[in-house]
Amino acid sequence: MKIALGVDHAAFGYKEAIRAELERLGHAVLDCGTDGPASVDYPAIALAVARAVRGGEAEFGVFLCGTGIGGSIAANKVRGVRAALCHEAFTARMARLHNNANVLCIGARVVGLDLALEIVRVFLATAWPNEARHARRLALIADAEAETVTSS
Ligand code: RB5
Repeated sequence: MKIALGVDHAAFGYKEAIRAELERLGHAVLDCGTDGPASVDYPAIALAVARAVRGGEAEFGVFLCGTGIGGSIAANKVRGVRAALCHEAFTARMARLHNNANVLCIGARVVGLDLALEIVRVFLATAWPNEARHARRLALIADAEAETVTSS
């Protein structure tokens, strides 16, 4: 698959290891930055990841910042994006099974590198089962999103 990968300065130290793991798993990486340890504004990078998913340039996005919180807030502003902040394998799995999340956010100041790699592996290996009750709940979210778009 094609995976959009973005990190801010707080997670820059994890970037190459995440990229290497994605490539080891057979995925192609779309690099959304950042390219060095200098301070950057995380929304710009999280939005680039989310827009790549929204636009179909990537099937999934992976974004890391210090906590993962700001990136997930930003990514979820992009229509059609369901970004999930995951701190361990269970939430990564549930984010796919129940929420059909298409952007994974991780806090590099919260989880160690080995756990971050496991979260990435579990997230990408878990297929969306498209169960009716979960699909119905996601449709409610999509409806609210459409409301926001037309009313703003
Ligand atoms: C950067 O200091 C930090 O705010 C950012 O990486 C992230 O944690 C935001 O939510």
